[in-house]
Parts: sequence; structure tokens; C-alpha cells
Amino acid sequence: MSESISTPDKPEPLPEVEDAKDLFSKFDPLIKQRQDLLDSGLEDPFGLVMERVLSPVTAVCNGRETILLGTYNYMGMTFDPEVIEAGKSALENYGSGTTGSRVLNGTYVGHKDVEDALCEFYGMDHAMVFSTGYQANLGIISTIAGKGDYIVLDIDSHASIWDGCAMGNAEVVPFKHNDLEAMEKRLKRIPEGAGKLVVLEGVYSMLGDIAPLKEMIAIAKSHGAMVLVDEAHSMGFIGPNGRGVAEDQGVLDDVDFVIGTFSKSVGTVGGFCVSNHPKFEIMRLVCRPYVFTASLPPSVVATAATSIRKLMDAGDKREHLWENSKRLHKGLRDLGFELGTEEPQSAIIAVIMPDLERGAGMWEALLKEGLYVNLARPPATPAGMTLLRCSLCAEHSEEQVGQILTMFEAAGKAVGII
Ligand SMILES: Cc1ncc(COP(=O)(O)O)c(C=O)c1O
Repeated sequence: MSESISTPDKPEPLPEVEDAKDLFSKFDPLIKQRQDLLDSGLEDPFGLVMERVLSPVTAVCNGRETILLGTYNYMGMTFDPEVIEAGKSALENYGSGTTGSRVLNGTYVGHKDVEDALCEFYGMDHAMVFSTGYQANLGIISTIAGKGDYIVLDIDSHASIWDGCAMGNAEVVPFKHNDLEAMEKRLKRIPEGAGKLVVLEGVYSMLGDIAPLKEMIAIAKSHGAMVLVDEAHSMGFIGPNGRGVAEDQGVLDDVDFVIGTFSKSVGTVGGFCVSNHPKFEIMRLVCRPYVFTASLPPSVVATAATSIRKLMDAGDKREHLWENSKRLHKGLRDLGFELGTEEPQSAIIAVIMPDLERGAGMWEALLKEGLYVNLARPPATPAGMTLLRCSLCAEHSEEQVGQILTMFEAAGKAVGII
């Protein structure tokens, strides 16, 4: 005789409440805009899958070999044999993850080593590594500028900077992008005796333009403010030693905190802050996005340390990347595209699209030609612009830049933009 297995009673559904509000309803306009775009037959520009990655500058997407012109792999370190070897060795010797915070069980020799590599790279006394660049901004800004302090920042600052400001509860005073006069006006209005932090970026990633850091830092210092510069998009490339725009403009010594990331030129993932502030080490105990999260895996810090040390001696790559940037900027301008900057200022060249529909159409046409670029749209972009953001890599060959221009010409004509 077989025993019957009893099933638990199905629970009664909860009663419906009449005035219940769906918290997702605020996203309805965006859901509709996205659906309209997809219904028009265009491929989802935010859903691309890299099926295979062949090199820092090529991948297989939709079964087709594609040139990558929309990564932040500026220095092409992701497939460097020494970087890969360092990662493999750390994976084998230290395991796949630390399973803990930096202040408990999550600091291995590799974490100390990558912080030493950063101190060597920047010539600074202290380096603190976070799990992402986003967390580095979130942690440092929110911890050093709290209630009653003032943060004066460029209105085009990255989301992680804004989020760091919000988390710390400081008074936030934005000023017009790269406008020295507007910045000084804001600083003058801050009550006497209040703590002041000026937050700037070296390269602004949407248009690829740089900040006049020399002038801005002089103004900030004359008003008694501390200065934080996010050099996410300049590390490795800009400046004689690749230390960024502050180095290039001769003012690195006047910067109190440099924020950076491993997810761009370094070629892996992670974030950091370097500083000469004598009390900087206390941050390790008081900075919540550092304390209350797991540390980076050993393989990641090993690849980062190897990459950073190689970037110290990468003058030839820097030179080639500048050549690529100048060649692409001139070529696109000659074709009749409207660009984000008059002259190339970084490895990012933004092509301004007339609207989202034609921007998405152009993005898809380029992909079909075999070229991947970033489609950027509000709220990430300034002034409601739709952009095709091209980010060059030191591993793009001169021939590839020529191919890229041919693809832009074909796509631009097909979509009716040039
Ligand atoms: C200026 C800036 N800061 C910080 C970050 C965050 O870096 P991560 O990717 O390491 O979180 C980014 C990322 O795009 C950035 O553009």
C-alpha cells in the first residue's frame, strides 16, 4: 500500500487594498519611450551582448566581428600577457574571493601591493582601494563632507559624485560646467568658517572635454577649500606620467584627493583615492562604503597592480592614443559630424545626434557596419543631448581608425545625418 503524501493547504491570498500604489508607476514614461523605440524595429541599444571578446578592440556581437569604439579600455591593458598571468597566479594561490571587508578578513598582501603601486604611480603618501570607483566617490565625498559642510561641484559631475554628496548630507552648491566665474561666486557665498570641498573631474566623460584645473584649483585654494579631482578618464593617458589632467596642468601637488578607477585604463574593476593628507589613514575606519562591503578578489588586485606599474612606463602607448584621438576627431569633423569639442582633448570623442530616434538609428547602422560605440542619452548627458560616444584605445591601429571613419560615413549617409 502506498502512503499518500500530504500537500500543505494553499494560503489564502491577501486582501486587495484599494488605494495601493504600484511603486513602479513612476517609470511608466521611460517604459513607454523604450517600448516605442523597440517597436520601431530598432535593436535595443542598451542590451548588446558581447558573444566573444577577441582583443581590447574587437569582439563578436550578433555573430559578427566588431570593432570596439565604446569601451573605457583606453590603454588596452585587458589582454596584456603579464596582467593576465598575474591574475591567474593570484587566483590559483589565493582563491576566487576574500569573502570579507578590508577591515576584517579582506586585506591580503595583494590589496596592500596595489595600494603601494598607486602610491608609486601618483607619487603620493596614501592610497585606499575600494571595490569600485563609484564606491570611492560615494565613500570619500560622503565621509569628508557632512552636515554643515559645503560641496561646490561642476553641474556635469558623474552620478557617483552626486550620490556621494547626497549621502553625506552636506550643502551642495553646483555651478555651470567649467565656468570659473560661477564657481568663484558660489565659493564667496559660503558662510565664514564652514568646511568647503570643491569637486572637479579631469575629463568629463560625456563630451570628452577637460577642466581648467589650474585656474579652478587656484580659486578653490584662495577660498580655503579642499579639492577633490576625479581622474577616472585621464589616468594612464593624460599627463607626462599618465597621472591625469592635474599633472598635465602642473597642479597635482595642490589636489587634496585624487579619485580614480581600475575599470578604465587599468583594465579591470575597482576604485581608489590617493592623498597626501597626513590624517588620511583614519578613512579606513570611518568610510562606510569601504568598511561595509567585501574587498576585491585577489586576482583583480593582482591584475590592477601589474597594469598600474606597466602604465608608469607607457609613453609610447600614450603617444599612439593621442594620434588616434586626433585622427578620428579630424576625420569625423571633415565628414560633417558635429562633435562635443572643437579640438580633441581626451580619448573620448562625442558625436552629437539631432535626437534620440536618429541617434539610436545611427547606433544600429554602425553596429551593422561592424562598429560598436556608446549611445548616451539624458539624464546621463548634459543639456538633454543624445550622443554617440567614441572612446579610443591605444591598441586601435591606424588602419582601424580609417575603417571606423569609413563606417561612420556609410552609416551617417544611410541615416541622413550627414
Ligand atoms: C567620472 C567617473 N567617476 C567614477 C566612475 C565610476 O567608476 P567605476 O566604474 O569604477 O564604478 C565613473 C564611471 O564611469 C566615471 O565616469
